[in-house]
Amino acid sequence: MMDKIQIAIDGPASAGKSTVAKIVANKLHFIYCDTGAMYRAVTYAAIKKNIKLDDDQALGELLKNIDIKFVPGKPEQRVFINEEEVTRAIRTPEITNNVSLVSAQPSVRKALTQRQQEIAAEGGIVMDGRDIGTTVLPNAQVKIFLVASVHERAVRRFKENQEKGIDTPLATLEKEIEERDYKDSHREISPLVKADDAILVDTTSLDIDGVVERILEIVKQNTKASENQ
Ligand code: DC
Repeated sequence: MMDKIQIAIDGPASAGKSTVAKIVANKLHFIYCDTGAMYRAVTYAAIKKNIKLDDDQALGELLKNIDIKFVPGKPEQRVFINEEEVTRAIRTPEITNNVSLVSAQPSVRKALTQRQQEIAAEGGIVMDGRDIGTTVLPNAQVKIFLVASVHERAVRRFKENQEKGIDTPLATLEKEIEERDYKDSHREISPLVKADDAILVDTTSLDIDGVVERILEIVKQNTKASENQ
């Protein structure tokens, strides 16, 4: 049986992290943790409470009073803030376009990083985000950095949106992705950056199965390498 290792999957917006992380977790019978959903949940709660999205102190207070939970569900994991289900509500363009500001606040990063470390403590986990390999789980046995071109990511988001009945033009999506990349990579704390020991996987010309296969291969090689040490 596969050891209960930690697998960190980082990369920019819409590189396919959550889709492949979910499948990889399923195949290995590991837990899947979507850390982006946690930042989105805080953004949702802050907007609802009329908190200024760069008010670090107020956000810190807010975080003391909210519990973000994941509950297994089909077809997708469900997300709760205290007793309120926010699975869908955290995916709206309003949240997507405001989450970078909230996730740049130190009190938010500190509280969520701590919570993520607790969730991952026992291993057997696939965690995706921006700073998992660098900050949250620096000792993860497997670190993947997923990338894809801006155009390819915008096309993927466009298709996803169409299925949900959201009609944002492709050019707007490209612009939003570029902006989010910039903000996520240039913030002061835990910016999006590849960990030195992360393996780069470019998904531009790979389909989902191809990416999953590549990651499972990396996991296998890595586990073998550590057994031989
Ligand atoms: O993966 P996503 O698009 O759902 O993430 C939403 C935002 O949350 C993203 O713009 C940056 C932020 N984020 C972060 O700062 N650190 C993480 N580990 C995960 C997400």
